Amino acid sequence: MNSLQIEEQAILAAREAGALIRQKCGRAAQTIVKSNDYDLVTEVDKACEELIRRRLAEQAPTHHILGEEGVAPGSAASAQAVEESRDAEVLWIIDPIDGTTNFIHGFPNSVVSIGVAQRGELLVGVIYDPFRDEMFTARRGEGAFLNGERLSVSKEATLQESVLATGFPVDTKGARAINMRGMQALAPTVRNFRALGTAALHLAYVAAGRLTGFWEMDLNAWDLSAGSLLIQEAGGRVTDTRGVEYHLGVRHIAATNGLVHDDLLRVLVESRATGYEAE
Ligand code: IPD
Ligand code: CA
Ligand code: CA
Repeated sequence: MNSLQIEEQAILAAREAGALIRQKCGRAAQTIVKSNDYDLVTEVDKACEELIRRRLAEQAPTHHILGEEGVAPGSAASAQAVEESRDAEVLWIIDPIDGTTNFIHGFPNSVVSIGVAQRGELLVGVIYDPFRDEMFTARRGEGAFLNGERLSVSKEATLQESVLATGFPVDTKGARAINMRGMQALAPTVRNFRALGTAALHLAYVAAGRLTGFWEMDLNAWDLSAGSLLIQEAGGRVTDTRGVEYHLGVRHIAATNGLVHDDLLRVLVESRATGYEAE
């Protein structure tokens, strides 16, 4: 399968799962607690992942799959699962619903995120927002697109002009507190913040020039891989919060239009908001 065919399959899979998300938003029958009371999953997350897995079993049976719902809860297990699969010949990295808390509350902001890597290098990224019917797609070296229209990142050159997004990680005492420290430090200088409750949608919006940048602690490859390729292909920059170029193991993400990247990192470093103390 070449990257175009992989992209086609990812688009079909994302549309199929997206239809279910749209139909069931706010109507999940049961909510299951994962690593803690704030880390949630529903039967629809599992059904969406199952749909995608079934398609891949038919269309690409030799490809490996790293799907959020196939991994044990918690940061350590997630990091280990990424480590174990990142060298696979072809690896599909799937977040069947990014924005599960929104989904449970009927707040219509959840997406499907699918990244496909070849021996650790991202080849394809697809993020689908079923509520706006927006399909964000990228293939390495071929640019990033929204419903077929080419995307490029925004042109703000200073933090003063920037709208930055972030999230509120499920680890309330650790990662969420560090993230809040970063917000506190950035607050006096940025134009404003947005927090939509889905990391993948934030990344897609940076690629589309709707947000200047996004940062957040303790995310997983399934939150980040597709969106990172979209931003790179739209002319932006993606690193960890200390400036290391994006790779599948990155958990603390900083993703911008490129122009404000160093300024964002500087504020995060100065406010000790780049990660856990022990790292
Ligand atoms: C979550 C979302 C959210 C972010 C959390 C993630 P999920 O993913 O991306 O925006 O703040 O840290 O865990 O659980 O909805 O797939
Ligand atoms: Ca997620
Ligand atoms: Ca998810």
